Amino acid sequence: MSKSRWYKDAVIYQIYPRSFCDSNGDGIGDIRGIISKLDYLKDLGVTCVWLSPCYKSPNADNGYDISDYRDIMDEFGTLDDWQEMADGMHERGIKLVMDLVVNHTSDEHEWFKQSRSSKDNPYRDYYIWRKGKGKDGKTPPNNWTSRFTGSAWEYDETTGEFYLHLFHKKQPDLNWENPKVRQEVADICNYWFEKGVDGFRCDVITYISKDQSFADGKFNPVVCGDEHFVIGPRYHEFIHELNEKSWSKYDTMIVGEAQGITINNAFDCVDESREELDCVFTFEHQTEVDSFMTTIPKPFNLKKWKEIFSSWQALPDTCWNSLYLENHDYPRVVPRYGKMEYREYVDKMLAISINFLKGTPYIYQGQEIGMTNFEDLEPDEYRDVVSLQLRDTVKKIFPPAMPIVKWGLNKKARDHARAPMQWDDSEYAGFSTVEPWMPNNPNYPEINVKKALEDKNSVWYFYQKINRMRIGDEIIRYGTYKQYMPENKDIWVYERAYKGKKYVVVASYTDKEAVFTMPRELRYNKCKLILHNYNDGEFMLTSCRLKPYEAFVFETE
Ligand code: GLC
Ligand code: CA
Repeated sequence: MSKSRWYKDAVIYQIYPRSFCDSNGDGIGDIRGIISKLDYLKDLGVTCVWLSPCYKSPNADNGYDISDYRDIMDEFGTLDDWQEMADGMHERGIKLVMDLVVNHTSDEHEWFKQSRSSKDNPYRDYYIWRKGKGKDGKTPPNNWTSRFTGSAWEYDETTGEFYLHLFHKKQPDLNWENPKVRQEVADICNYWFEKGVDGFRCDVITYISKDQSFADGKFNPVVCGDEHFVIGPRYHEFIHELNEKSWSKYDTMIVGEAQGITINNAFDCVDESREELDCVFTFEHQTEVDSFMTTIPKPFNLKKWKEIFSSWQALPDTCWNSLYLENHDYPRVVPRYGKMEYREYVDKMLAISINFLKGTPYIYQGQEIGMTNFEDLEPDEYRDVVSLQLRDTVKKIFPPAMPIVKWGLNKKARDHARAPMQWDDSEYAGFSTVEPWMPNNPNYPEINVKKALEDKNSVWYFYQKINRMRIGDEIIRYGTYKQYMPENKDIWVYERAYKGKKYVVVASYTDKEAVFTMPRELRYNKCKLILHNYNDGEFMLTSCRLKPYEAFVFETE
């Protein structure tokens, strides 16, 4: 079939089900909770939902460790609930993209139970087993590290060999060299497509092909081995095969989570002619990471950030962009990119900056009301396995560094984005009737959906307006991209142009005043202001002094 590429006009909302809405008072979000909010999503103007994993899972990594790909996690509900949710979305014109986590499974998946039971079990080759080094064979086969800290190999007593896990030890990596594994993955995709799913977000998909020499990685104090498995030797072949066996048979969107995909190899990974992924989440603009999750945040540098976005905007239309700032793996945009005291201005400024680019925008749950990071959480209040592993490792090997751990977690832990959704100012933020699985952010009486809906100037209505504007807008959909003032360290100015009409976006990323000079070629044009994050004060569409985090869009010729 030929793809309609519906996603190029979509606005996607990510739901992290555990933290979205609890319908049955056990403190854990669930599918019936999502069902109760479908009208809310429709009002916001989103046209697609990406649902983080809801499959059976022992929750070592909140559902990113799957023990049955064809069933729903007990805490979230049943397959019938899921069907009702999917139908409810489709009735409202909302598509559903599910998470596909197939670099690894849970160690409680039946395949792994079989695989670890003996060396000649038919499932042995579903995973990656190697003999250890040293006399007793108990030294890991190589120096590769888990992205969640420590060795990527776990010794298993039953057969006296190690298995590979690039994430938690309860997330053993599948062996994609085995054609049976690849067939299983295609079958899983087809199973959900037949049930009406519209696409997949492929978790850590660039890790699936491992260099079979299993040689040591270059020394790196944080993560070792990347060069042997990030876009590994058979990556393109495996993805193309899956596309052929499954994805291309339905009208889908396949978006890959793409460590290692940069502007240099993006074309080969996403161009339509490749028949691989439709689009990716690049990590290039994420300031929290050099190499995935375990490092200290880099300082924000607007010039660099503009360069990155601008280079992705220059890709041809057959390579589609995903536009995102938040998700369940990153802290909130406030205070990452702007000061707390200007919260709503920063939220709206970022909404403007990102949503007028070419590509498909994502809103992560709570972003539409400007939810923020926790201000001060103690190391023991975190719940995420990555935060806890870091805390425990440092406590064990070098306790004096604990204040740094506390500082780092407060800045970049994944927990910040996983706090329960803030629906209203009642106890537990209207998320649940009992104490939730992780603490509410104490600012929920101030920041919540109920309050946002009562205030026409809220971040929520700003997103609604943008979402409605985007749909069917040809300049946003097809326009060329051009940057002005690329050297400026405080403001981002860009233009989108299509058939003689233009949008010009001006966004200040500083809490100080910044000077915007109207680009010479636009100076004598008629300009119409169409969006602005400040409503008060004077406004002149020539050169002007921008207020803290001020941003606007004007239309011109
Ligand atoms: C992805 C997910 C993250 C998870 C990891 C391992 O990066 O987004 O939440 O921990 O993969 O599955
Ligand atoms: Ca529940």
